[in-house]
Amino acid sequence: LPLGRILTLQDMEDVARDVLSYKANAYYSSAADDQITHTENVRAFSRFFFHPRVLRTVSQCSPATKILGCRSSLPIFVSSAALAKLGHPLGETNITRGAGRTGVIQMVSTNASFSASEIYAARVSPTQPLFFQLYKKRDDSEAEKLVQEVEALGYNAIFLTVDAIVAGRRDRDIKAPFALEDQEREGTKQQPYVEGPQEEEGHTLGTSGALVAGNDVDMTWEKTIPWLRSVTKLPIVIKGIQCVADAVLAAETGVDGILISNHGGRQLEYSLPSIEVLYRLRIQRPDIFQRIEVYVEGGARRGTDILKALCLGATAVGMGRPFLYAQSAYGDAGVVKIIRILEQEIVYGMRLLGASSVRDLVPEMVERVDWQPE
Ligand code: FNR
Repeated sequence: LPLGRILTLQDMEDVARDVLSYKANAYYSSAADDQITHTENVRAFSRFFFHPRVLRTVSQCSPATKILGCRSSLPIFVSSAALAKLGHPLGETNITRGAGRTGVIQMVSTNASFSASEIYAARVSPTQPLFFQLYKKRDDSEAEKLVQEVEALGYNAIFLTVDAIVAGRRDRDIKAPFALEDQEREGTKQQPYVEGPQEEEGHTLGTSGALVAGNDVDMTWEKTIPWLRSVTKLPIVIKGIQCVADAVLAAETGVDGILISNHGGRQLEYSLPSIEVLYRLRIQRPDIFQRIEVYVEGGARRGTDILKALCLGATAVGMGRPFLYAQSAYGDAGVVKIIRILEQEIVYGMRLLGASSVRDLVPEMVERVDWQPE
């Protein structure tokens, strides 16, 4: 399909599904158990409706913002998603170039197919910001070395993932197991798959199981956050907050931000949809939004989804799968394409809402209904 015929993120996903291998499709699209949380991440956005304001000056309309002090052309970012080479030989560097050309920030996974320095080198300008997603290894000194390496390279923030101490059960991914040969062919820097702890009743935990082996399962508020603070000067964001109580704890612990996320429904099945957690935080603890930056990810596919999250107080919205699909289908041009689609949808929505900047998006503009549109 010519790129010009792609009008929505769903169109892009449809093209990608046709070009991806069975294994890549299984790894990218799968989610835990019956995929309820993943499905509801997407559907939950449709329970939020707007109260648009009219007769306002919106001819000058800017969707630009700042995320952790870094300029971003849109209130979105690329969520870390591992193994982009499964979909395209240039993998994550497609995303780096596409994001750089459009002024969007990419969060690079610990389990990327390229090293942090290779991805850093793919930036289109010396001022292009990059965030780093950390899976903390059990061994503190190994984790410290990695954090200091990315800080020395020039990465702008650390997102510590806390919702994946063990791999969620993703049936389709488990049926397409990840073998050492695949890792070598795909060029990932991961340790070879070892039979052992992640073997369960004769089944492996698929790609995700192989990737989280070796991660620290004993992270705590008391120990891990102060440890991370002591080894880096970079802003720290906790990725994988799934309830109001932990959002409050994070603010009290003194991190710079939280990313409300259930890992795209890939970890605990029946974790509440991300936008619902954001909504509860807005209702129950509006003060938190004054103290730290709050981001959300999971299921956002339209400009209106992003605008709803911004009205509820999010600084920006992350997306994972859409960028994997876009780079798989068309390389960096695909990444630029979906960012342009989102830009058009966001600016269009802002104008019709009566908002000329992201500051004009306020809680009074959105209402949660208790019925689910068909
Ligand atoms: C992920 N995600 C993820 N998160 C993380 O912290 N480190 C990682 O390496 C990965 N890897 C990864 C691979 C794939 C294939 C997917 C789909 C997701 C989770 C990711 O950062 C984010 O939470 C979700 O992708 C957001 O949901 P959507 O936008 O994909 O619905």
